[in-house]
Amino acid sequence: MKRGTLIGVGVGPGAPDLMTLRAVDVLRRADVIAIPRRSERDESLAWRIARDNVGEVAGQERIFLTFPMTKEPERLRPAWERIFEALGPHLLAGKRVAFVTEGDPFVYSTFIYLMDEAPRRWPAVEIEVVPGVSSLTAVPAAARVPIADGLERVALLPATYGVDDLTRVLREFDTVLLMKVGSVMPQVIAALEQEGLLDRAVYVSKATTGEEKVVRDLRSIGGERCDYFSMVVIAKKERSGALKGAGR
Ligand SMILES: C[S@@+](CC[C@H](N)C(=O)[O-])C[C@H]1O[C@@H](n2cnc3c(N)ncnc32)[C@H](O)[C@@H]1O
Repeated sequence: MKRGTLIGVGVGPGAPDLMTLRAVDVLRRADVIAIPRRSERDESLAWRIARDNVGEVAGQERIFLTFPMTKEPERLRPAWERIFEALGPHLLAGKRVAFVTEGDPFVYSTFIYLMDEAPRRWPAVEIEVVPGVSSLTAVPAAARVPIADGLERVALLPATYGVDDLTRVLREFDTVLLMKVGSVMPQVIAALEQEGLLDRAVYVSKATTGEEKVVRDLRSIGGERCDYFSMVVIAKKERSGALKGAGR
């Protein structure tokens, strides 16, 4: 019996020309492309990035999977069940199912849960992963802030799930990458101010897209609710090149 293959494909942070050649090739050769979106009305960002590079492929099926943006188990559980029901028949039929992920599939991605659950649901399934350019590297590039050099230590945090220990992390690491800052910018700004690091922080939203925004004066953001696709990178080490970048 042919075994189905579930492939997590990273499509990069936004610019279609940051998709890898391998990602394009794997997506073109897939029997099914699974496309996550936040609601039925939502245009999937991952698919918007990949669509033109992949083009039309005869006989290929494309299925949209809705992942509601919630942490409530009573809404999440049925949504995941619908997703397993949509993918299951293809994997059991031995098809190659490619799941597109914005950025990299192993950085805060729904693919991680899918990959964990897959062998329980479909014991013969094979898993493949195609890494992508992550916002982890795209945002520092946009901000002209190197992540680490020499012995510098780096921390990665999802700010949404608590900024309580941010001050401790800021003290312990040389560079801190804060993801999912959209709804907690006032708290982030307060913690940076307290540690005297506000001037060492750069805010970037929608990196590498036509709407990319780089803000070096975080005070100018104040209490604004920020874009979901935004990050703050804080680097303690001063480097002259970083000052030459774009942004206000
Ligand atoms: C669910 S995580 C997905 C991360 C993705 N797998 C990656 O490797 O970049 C979503 C968070 O990634 C960050 N992010 C993703 N793309 C971004 C972009 N183009 N510009 C700025 N931040 C981005 C934001 O912090 C956003 O809240």
